[in-house]
Amino acid sequence: MLHRIDILQKNEKKKSRRAFLKLAGYGMISLAATGLRPFTDPLFASPEQASASGIGFVPDLDLSLIAGAGQDAIFPGDPTGVWRYRAQVHKGNSRRVSVLPDSYLGPIIRSNKGEKIRIRLVNELPEETIVHWHGLHVPSAMDGHPRDVVGPGQHYTYEFTVANRAGTYWYHPHPHGITGPQVYGGLAGLFLVSDDEERAAGLPDGSFDIPLVIQDRTFDRDNQLVYLSGHPMERMIGFLGDRIFVNGKPDYTLPVSTGAYRLRLLNGSNSRIYKLAWKDGRPLTVIATDGGLLETPVHRRYVFLAPGERIELWADFSSDPIGYETALVSLPFDAGASGGRAMGRGMMRGGRTPQGPQLPNGAAFQICKIAVTRAVQKTHRLPDRLSEVVRADPRQAVNIDRPRRFALTMGHMRWTINGRTFRMEEVADDEVVRIGTKELWEFDNTGGGMGMMRMMDMPHPMHLHGQQFRVLYRTGVTHEGYVDEGWKDTVLVMPGERVRLLTRFDDYPGLFLYHCHNLEHEDMGMMRNYYIRTS
Ligand code: C2O
Ligand code: CU
Ligand code: CU
Repeated sequence: MLHRIDILQKNEKKKSRRAFLKLAGYGMISLAATGLRPFTDPLFASPEQASASGIGFVPDLDLSLIAGAGQDAIFPGDPTGVWRYRAQVHKGNSRRVSVLPDSYLGPIIRSNKGEKIRIRLVNELPEETIVHWHGLHVPSAMDGHPRDVVGPGQHYTYEFTVANRAGTYWYHPHPHGITGPQVYGGLAGLFLVSDDEERAAGLPDGSFDIPLVIQDRTFDRDNQLVYLSGHPMERMIGFLGDRIFVNGKPDYTLPVSTGAYRLRLLNGSNSRIYKLAWKDGRPLTVIATDGGLLETPVHRRYVFLAPGERIELWADFSSDPIGYETALVSLPFDAGASGGRAMGRGMMRGGRTPQGPQLPNGAAFQICKIAVTRAVQKTHRLPDRLSEVVRADPRQAVNIDRPRRFALTMGHMRWTINGRTFRMEEVADDEVVRIGTKELWEFDNTGGGMGMMRMMDMPHPMHLHGQQFRVLYRTGVTHEGYVDEGWKDTVLVMPGERVRLLTRFDDYPGLFLYHCHNLEHEDMGMMRNYYIRTS
């Protein structure tokens, strides 16, 4: 007990010293010029915060999550060097933490709404890291903000109560500037939450509840991972691998029985967007999005899944014969500059022209094969009603007349939000919200620019830390591939689109992030803090 509090206090001390150095480093000149102010967060600079959660916290599940280097025999020949999470369960049912066989992906952590979780991140990497629980509603100090990074050999203890609805959430590193390469190296895992409402829906479970984590990777001749070449244009677009991986494996085949399945899809790629569809043309039946079950199933011919987003599909093979094969595919679409257009043309004239991506964003390919191999007698029936999703009423917003607007634009070869890039402890006046309120936020991707700049139009999957939100409407949409009905934490904003959200800031005060979940955009600073104030 004492030992743990010690660790927390050490974390706190280290944190406040770092914060101080950073603030001193900014200087007042540039900040004054931009009208921005450095930010110190009184709540989390004090050690009371640590002990407030520490004393009397009795976890239902207590584990260590160790981030370190490892090897994975992905291909015949040399094993691939990867970075990975592994877990050690100290308390609670160890079956709650399950490993995907032969995969670099982190263990799947399962929990129930209302449970207390303690996770001790142990950093055995050669560089700083911190874990973020993507989609989970946790206090600021438990959210994995980049200012909380711990160095090699250090650890960070998380304690939180699972407050989310049942759903498919995930975890990944969040150190500023190096999130892209760390996730690419293999650091990512699923965090699944269950609750009574979900149990009442009677969905397929056990071996009929299957996670599918979709990623793209590129390898050299020695089977080692290849990341960006270092060309600035490549970074502007984001990393695009030439092989599609599912659950940490290439050329994935999912054997299924003649029954109904719950497929939990996560786009864990750095920057690739998938336009999901069934190869045999049957519609996708979507039962859940980022923040859990929809009210009722929806059907789409295709659905876009951007980095960070999750979607759950109902897939029923009960009328397919044994031996039947289909596939989950990605259909072709116009991905703006990330389709390789900027690489190929005038943009690079005169200079050293880099090769466009082998498999551009928006290219068509197969994601995974599905093979019906076994018969089962009894199968689940798709419920008409899945859960209760309260109506999103814009009139609840305190800024109904003046939505907060966030322009997604490029400036000086950098992606920006309202012309700004990330600074560790900086919050602008227009990034402060009040606790207990709901607000209208609008992400605007219509300002792609003129002439040359037009070529750099890009999709941006925008993500909010801290709270799930609702999508009210979009403008400029030319397709049917969105599922905006449920709770979301990441929303794809295609070039030419504006998306209006109803956000909420219920309880936890403090500093949280919002950013583009194209990890190369995030790393170059297309990320900002917002602050939830208590008065
Ligand atoms: Cu999944 Cu701040 O990210
Ligand atoms: Cu997040
Ligand atoms: Cu972006």
